[in-house]
Amino acid sequence: MTSTRGEFSSRFGFIMAASGSAVGLGNIWGFPTQAAGNGGAAFLVVYLVLAFTLAYPALMAELIIGRHAHSNPVRALRTISPNPLLARLGAASGIAGLGIASLILSFYAIVAGWMIAFCLASLMDLFGAAELSAWLTSFGVVRNLLFTYLFIGLTAFIITGGVRGGIERWSARLMPVLILTLLILIAYVLTLEGATEGLKIYLLPDFSRSLSPDLILRALGAAFFSLSLGVGTMLVYGSYLSDEENLPLLGGVVTLVDIIIAVIAGFLILPAMYVALHSGVHIFNADGTLISEDTLIFTVLPELFATMRLAGVIVSITFFFLMSIAALTSSISMLEVSVAYATESRGVKRGRAALVIGCAVAAASTLIIFDFSNLFGLVITLTTRYGQPLLGFVFCLYAGWVWHRDGVLQELLKNNPEAEHGLFWRIWPWYVKFVCPVIILAIFAQAALG
Ligand code: PHE
Repeated sequence: MTSTRGEFSSRFGFIMAASGSAVGLGNIWGFPTQAAGNGGAAFLVVYLVLAFTLAYPALMAELIIGRHAHSNPVRALRTISPNPLLARLGAASGIAGLGIASLILSFYAIVAGWMIAFCLASLMDLFGAAELSAWLTSFGVVRNLLFTYLFIGLTAFIITGGVRGGIERWSARLMPVLILTLLILIAYVLTLEGATEGLKIYLLPDFSRSLSPDLILRALGAAFFSLSLGVGTMLVYGSYLSDEENLPLLGGVVTLVDIIIAVIAGFLILPAMYVALHSGVHIFNADGTLISEDTLIFTVLPELFATMRLAGVIVSITFFFLMSIAALTSSISMLEVSVAYATESRGVKRGRAALVIGCAVAAASTLIIFDFSNLFGLVITLTTRYGQPLLGFVFCLYAGWVWHRDGVLQELLKNNPEAEHGLFWRIWPWYVKFVCPVIILAIFAQAALG
């Protein structure tokens, strides 16, 4: 079985793929705008604490289970325990993961489609095709459908190429471009007037906003979303890792890359907002709060770019290109969860699986587009604020309680004979057993009560 499975060709390939999955719209759009609206550096602190204390251990749970089973989430969770009931519950959790990953993809593809449309619109501006550009940037069913399908098509195309020829190859190409583009944009925006004001908001904490239960729940959802947890993505990527690799180390690198890029993206988005304010663009609501997250990127930034004339067109193309790449390296990991299951457990050919599941996701996106005001926010809240942390909780239970401690240790010993005496083994097993589940539940309980 394992011989016909894909495997990442190198450590670098895995890091690019897994951090490509982690770094996405959540980092460059979600994190900075949430930080902007929720106490700046205070949100940053809560987020960092949650990312290291909860998200990293949960990521490790997925990577270890995946690498051990060298299999898709459904089979991996089913085979952890010989107990039939636990096996069945494990398989059901795996299936729930596939469902949530696909639902996430269904709204993610809509937003990613906008990114491509906005990028093309700026290109059209460059060529003087103003009408086409206006159509590309206005909210319409046809535009939304077209670009969502285009994005899902691109995702399915890459997945058809397999682990090395698709996921690894494209992530290794796109991630360096992403990082470079991000840095160039930051360097440019920081030279503009008003940028330092945004920096201040970002770096000076306002703790009165950050400690409410609802905010902590949001930060938890944001951290799980950002690290692609609770849907089996990291479990699948872990399953394509060779037994020679050091898992705690690789997981640590991926967590760091993810967090650093989210934090760096804040140095782009917040200063850009205040540059916009400086150029006369409205960024506050009547009640003094920041305008909402979606409005920010699709209205504030284009208005800002417009005030910058030709430079603005180029910055705009670059910015939306960056967002499209970030989205693509994430969306492939969402689709791969179900495709891995379909190919391994159902015997479907990879290309066909990508096509059929891609069409199913496109159908879900179509429903959301037709009833946008009701469904879009609902699907996001259900999948990211509840689905991901709760399934992450289940994965921690499987790694901490269901799986025999010895089995976990054997997995870690595979590449590191000293693992038993290392810091990771001293802390992580009880941590994932007690601390992670308790904190996740406590955050939920508090949010429900308060
Ligand atoms: N981590 C991705 C982001 O930050 C989103 C994602 C969620 C990817 C779940 C895969 C699975 O945008």
